[in-house]
Amino acid sequence: MARPKISVIGAGNVGASTALMLSQMELGDIVLVDIVEGMPQGKALDMMEMNPVYGFDSNITGTNGYDETEGSDIVVITSGIPRKPGMSRDDLISTNTNVVKQVTEQVAAKSPNAILILVTNPLDAMVYVAHKVSGFPRERVMGMAGVLDSARFRAFIGMELGVSVENINAFVLGGHGDDMVPLGRFTTVAGVPVTELIPAQRLEEIIQRTRGGGGEIVKLLKTGSAFYAPAVSAVEMVEAILKDKKKILPCCMLAQGEYGVDNTFVGLPVKLGRDGIEEIFEISLSDSESKELLVSAGHVKELCEHIEGLGIL
Ligand code: NAI
Ligand code: 2OP
Repeated sequence: MARPKISVIGAGNVGASTALMLSQMELGDIVLVDIVEGMPQGKALDMMEMNPVYGFDSNITGTNGYDETEGSDIVVITSGIPRKPGMSRDDLISTNTNVVKQVTEQVAAKSPNAILILVTNPLDAMVYVAHKVSGFPRERVMGMAGVLDSARFRAFIGMELGVSVENINAFVLGGHGDDMVPLGRFTTVAGVPVTELIPAQRLEEIIQRTRGGGGEIVKLLKTGSAFYAPAVSAVEMVEAILKDKKKILPCCMLAQGEYGVDNTFVGLPVKLGRDGIEEIFEISLSDSESKELLVSAGHVKELCEHIEGLGIL
């Protein structure tokens, strides 16, 4: 049986780290695409030369074109520009709309049955662009943000309580912006609600740190944004799909009435399996949680309308 084929578009910090982690997990053969001549080829060859040490036989191909991506099972799109200090995710909008549009056209032509995982920011709006340009059903076009935001929330809770991160389950829904919705009420430590372990005011500080988690790293790095945690978050989604794990993860997708969100792209808890998004999990939110989710979705909707107005699509 042929190995699954995973294409990663954009061989920068997130893309190269994603390819590296995918190859370390032997999830399939990997094609790494970038516009910079020689760069994806060089990084792919470097990773191939790592394989004998690990004892892995999967192929990693670097390219500046799309022929090698033909018939991909999954395509992870990371191409575009990242945030620099002082920039919001939304500042990236017109450059990255153009990039994601061009990339999606090529990817969809070569791999009409692929599942697309968007990483490029502003994330929720880029999922909208890829969904519109590809014409793929909503089950096969999703964005990585909730896994990362939830991982940050879990990391901060682990640091606070001094317990294993493996004990911590957390959900962050909504858009990948400062108005994302970390759900303290559904966050548990070894099954115990976190609200019983961390005083409300301190938990609120941790929630605010989670909301600003991307910006905190941008400020430290100064020349770009986070990439290790984003890459492994995308890899968790790829693994859930390729291994048909039916894993519940928060992913950005087109909501069509679920959670009261109509025709907008937003992070919701979904079941990921071989067919992509196989189910949307509806948990009952409190009035204030629901309101926060709708505010966040409203912000994404405005961004998508702004993109429409740019006349790029
Ligand atoms: P980077 O600058 O290291 O890499 C981006 C790569 O995309 C570059 O190598 C560039 O040459 C390539 N590229 C640009 N236009 C292209 C095109 N038309 N076709 C193919 N490749 C193209 O940036 P980094 O750090 O890898 O971030 C990538 C994107 O992911 C950014 O938009 C960033 O904001 C976003 N991001 C999103 C996260 C999320 O949670 N959704 C987390 C981290 C980053
Ligand atoms: C992050 O959250 C910049 O969206 C990116 O790290």
